[in-house]
Order: sequence, then C-alpha cells, then structure tokens
Amino acid sequence: MIETILKKNRSTRGFDETQKIDRETLERWVSHTRYCGSASNRQPLKYCLLHEKNDVEGLLSLTKWAGALPNEHLPKSNQHPVAFIVILNDTTISNGRFVMADVGIAAQTLLLSAVEEGYAGCMIGAFDPNKVQAYLHLEDHLVPRLLIALGKGTEQIQLVDHTDSIQYYRKDGVHYVPKRTMDEILVEKE
Ligand SMILES: Cc1cc2nc3c(=O)[nH]c(=O)nc-3n(C[C@H](O)[C@H](O)[C@H](O)COP(=O)(O)O)c2cc1C
Repeated sequence: MIETILKKNRSTRGFDETQKIDRETLERWVSHTRYCGSASNRQPLKYCLLHEKNDVEGLLSLTKWAGALPNEHLPKSNQHPVAFIVILNDTTISNGRFVMADVGIAAQTLLLSAVEEGYAGCMIGAFDPNKVQAYLHLEDHLVPRLLIALGKGTEQIQLVDHTDSIQYYRKDGVHYVPKRTMDEILVEKE
C-alpha cells in the first residue's frame, strides 16, 4: 500500500553501522529513477554513489543534520549512515526552473525504494555544493543538488498531527514529526 510505505518513510538520522549497503543495491534504487517524470523529459539528473566508509565519512563531514535539534548532535558518532547517493544536476542538459522538481521526485523515489527493502534515509540539503563538488572531484557542469543518506534505521519515529508547532522534536528517545492536518492543507475555491 502506498500509504503504508509513505508513512514508514521518515527522515532517519541514526543507523546501524554494521548493516552495509552494497553498490549493486544503490544502483538498483537509482535505476528506479529512470521511470520518473522529468520536465520536458530532459532528464538532467545524474547520481554519484558512495558506500566505502572513508568516502561516506568524508561527505558526512560536509553536511548538517537536524538543524532544529542542535543539542542532539545527529547523527550520533556510532550511528552514521553507511551510504550516500548524491543527486547531481548536469547543467549541460538543463539548469531550468524545473530541475529542483525533478530532484524532489527522484529523491522520494530513492527513499521509497530503500524503505521498501527495509532501509531508511534522510534527504540532506544543508551542504555547500562547491565543497561537495570538490570533494567528489566532479566536473563543473555536475552540480550537487541534494544528498540522500542511507542505512538501516535505528530510530523510533512517530508522525503526529500538527497542533501549535511544525517543529520536529524528541521526547523519551522518540522523534516526533508534526504534519499539517487535512483541514489545513485543503483550500476551497472562492
Ligand atoms: C529538500 C529537503 C532537504 C532536507 N535537508 C535536510 C538536512 O539538510 N538535514 C536534515 O537533518 N534533514 C533534512 N531534511 C529532512 C527534513 O528535516 C524532514 O523531511 C522533516 O523534518 C520532516 O520529517 P519527515 O521527512 O520524516 O516527514 C530535508 C528534507 C527535504 C525534503
């Protein structure tokens, strides 16, 4: 059921480091993005896969996690992701205003693919594209737009209806994610 997997797909910031993800698995998830919509069918996205510990740790050091929970220092030192998929924009194909729509569709596809196989992940937008580009020794026309951190999730995460704040929070070891209710997101035509 689509609803079940969507609810299960929570941004996860703690992983079991003993559970690795091999390149073949990452390639399978990337292959699913080939079936995604793309504005004018330009398909300007490319993917760089990291699963070796040193590579993952190096990229991790260029990222920021859970800005709303600075005291948590996530991901914790023994709960790092074991893989990253770097979503790249090949600007020689397109650099137009729909590229980020393509990125979002691809990112969700990658996460749902991982979740279907019992893994978890987190989209990471808090990084300096120039630094990531340099770290990966990419040519100038390949611009990192979004990172997907991946692994076997260890966190307990719960969706809750939004009441007073949309800020995610942690209580007694559980990560809570408020979501706006249907009443809030449906707009009637005048
Ligand atoms: C485009 C995008 C960028 C994000 N960037 C980050 C990030 O840099 N660091 C982080 O910890 N979480 C990041 N997230 C995760 C959001 O914080 C998360 O989606 C939100 O808290 C709601 O939780 P949920 O994904 O479980 O519904 C990002 C999510 C999206 C969609």
